[in-house]
Amino acid sequence: MAKQSTKQNNNNYAPGIASEDSMLKSFFEDELKDIYWAEKNIVKTLPKMRKAATSQKLQQAFADHEQQSQGHVERLEQVFEILGKKAQAKKCDAMAGSIEEGKGIIEETEKGTATRDVGLILAAQKVEHYEISTYGGLAQLATTLGLEDVANLLKQTLEEEKQTDQLLTEIAESDVNYEAAMETEEE
Ligand SMILES: [Fe+2]
Repeated sequence: MAKQSTKQNNNNYAPGIASEDSMLKSFFEDELKDIYWAEKNIVKTLPKMRKAATSQKLQQAFADHEQQSQGHVERLEQVFEILGKKAQAKKCDAMAGSIEEGKGIIEETEKGTATRDVGLILAAQKVEHYEISTYGGLAQLATTLGLEDVANLLKQTLEEEKQTDQLLTEIAESDVNYEAAMETEEE
C-alpha cells in the first residue's frame, strides 16, 4: 500500500510540500520523458510537413516551428538537469499516433492542393493541443512540487505552443480553407 501523506490539515498545503521520493515527483519525471520523446519526434516530422505543404505561409510556419521545437527539446534537457536526472525519452503513444495521422494525410491527399494544407494544419493543431495540455499540466505540477525554475521553463514553451496554434488558425482562416473549398475532385 502507498504511504499516506502525514499532512492532515488542508490549510497546510503549500507549494514544495512533496518529498524527494514522492510518487508525484516520479510521475512528473515520467511525464517529462514522454513529452521529451514527443518533441524530438516533432522536430523530425516537421520538415516532412513543410515539404508536403503548398501555402508559403504554412511552409514558413512549419519551418519556424521546427526551430522552436528544437528549443523545446533543449529546454526539457535543462529541466532534467535542474532535477539532476539524465534526459531520457520514453515513447509517447499519443504523439506517435498523431504523427502517423499526419503521414496518413499526406498519403491520402494530392500534392499541390489546398485540401492537403487543410489536413496538415488540422494534424498540426492536434499536436499543438496535446502539447498545450501537457505543458500546462506539467507547469502546474512543477509549481506544486516547489520547482519554480522548472515551472518557468515549461511556461515559456507553453506560450510558444499557444502562439503556434493561433498562427495555424490564422493561416487556415485567412486563405487555405477558402481555397480548399473551391477545389474539386478529379475524376
Ligand atoms: Fe513543442
